[in-house]
Amino acid sequence: MTASTTTPASTTTPASTTSPEPTRRDFLYVATTAVGAVGAGFAAWPLIAQMNPDATTLAAASIEVDIGGIALGQVVTVKWRGKPVFVMHRTPEEIAAARATPLSELPDPVSDEERVQKPEWLVVIGICTHLGCVPLVHQGAFKGAFCPCHGSDYDTSGRIRVGPAPANLAVPPYKFATESKLVIG
Ligand code: FES
Repeated sequence: MTASTTTPASTTTPASTTSPEPTRRDFLYVATTAVGAVGAGFAAWPLIAQMNPDATTLAAASIEVDIGGIALGQVVTVKWRGKPVFVMHRTPEEIAAARATPLSELPDPVSDEERVQKPEWLVVIGICTHLGCVPLVHQGAFKGAFCPCHGSDYDTSGRIRVGPAPANLAVPPYKFATESKLVIG
């Protein structure tokens, strides 16, 4: 409709287009990884949400989680007070690895026995204690959780082993209402 339709798009090219942007690339890599972690972590959330009594429970101080369907070796992430909580159904090998670790090797020394109520269930807040990213479960050298943001590595008890995080993944208040019902909060 105007002459501009046929005008070649020979506009100036920003210099930044041809210059390397390693900082931005690194940022995007980290951001993508972090989003992926959240997405994967919350994949099971809609299912869990349906098991809750009603929506008001989600905003309440505590939530109920049906753990009867969580397979051995599986981790399910649920949302409690706006935070991801990892519910890990630990295998005998994962329990043994956590309990065989000398406290002297831990930056934040707490025994596995103190961090769980039942050996087969680890319940921790899935927020890295460094700067708050959501770690990837079953990743890293210790196969507990690995935070890709700056490389904090947690073991199968959610304890920091390597990296900048200063503390173990936090354990929320919880109890087992029945064999298959976990109450967090
Ligand atoms: S936020 Fe996890 S290592 Fe920095």
